[in-house]
Amino acid sequence: MSEIWTAVDTYLGTLFPDDAVLQAAVERGRTEGLPEIAVSPMQGRLLNILARAMGARAILEVGTLAGYSAIWLGRALPADGRMITLEVDAHHAEVARANLASAGLQNVEVRLGAARTTLPQLIEESAGPFDLIFIDADKVGYPEYFTWSLDLSHAGTLIIADNVVRHGNILDENTDDVSSRAIREFNAMIAADARVDATVLQVVGVKGHDGLAFAVVR
Ligand code: SAH
Ligand code: DHB
Ligand code: MG
Repeated sequence: MSEIWTAVDTYLGTLFPDDAVLQAAVERGRTEGLPEIAVSPMQGRLLNILARAMGARAILEVGTLAGYSAIWLGRALPADGRMITLEVDAHHAEVARANLASAGLQNVEVRLGAARTTLPQLIEESAGPFDLIFIDADKVGYPEYFTWSLDLSHAGTLIIADNVVRHGNILDENTDDVSSRAIREFNAMIAADARVDATVLQVVGVKGHDGLAFAVVR
């Protein structure tokens, strides 16, 4: 099956090609030795469309990597919009800053540090509320990141999380994979928390079989 998923994504990519800036961002990530785990082009496009459809003016991302999804999200902002993206790895942050500069996105701040530290920092600074929050860092942190995201939200904030299906590994309730355990906990949290209305979509394509979660704050 994965061959046809890839073939369809590749075909869609010919209809909706990434522009030169996005391609250069991916290329810089590759030459700098970063892992190739950014969202797919069609998912990046989805993030951009959702942010624009909701008129997002303030965006928070957890997990920057080379800044590929940050470019898609940053481009959705109005001229006076703002975005903060959190990254624990200094080299990733440096590559992302270069990519965001090449994209002309001066209003996107890459903040270096573990999200476990920087998210409470943002709350302390009253940096919120954000209109859209994209969670895409270490999977073990997702339950905590969701809780902090709620503190950085207002009614109507859209919280999106990547990698919530993990090739179906989340089905195993006895798994000893700590990431899958944490994602199971995260999915149960967004399902049960009365402060949000949420859904999970399975996704297939060039990145295999995974899922995206969407939670809107009441
Ligand atoms: N959103 C990016 C992909 C992010 S990959 C895109 O689609 O383009 C996950 C990133 O999260 C990696 O760069 C990794 O270094 C970072 N990360 C891992 N643990 C983290 C933590 N505790 N705090 C902040 N970032 C973290
Ligand atoms: C991994 C992380 C991601 O955010 C992703 O989209 C795919 C893989 C990983 O840590 O392996
Ligand atoms: Mg991801």
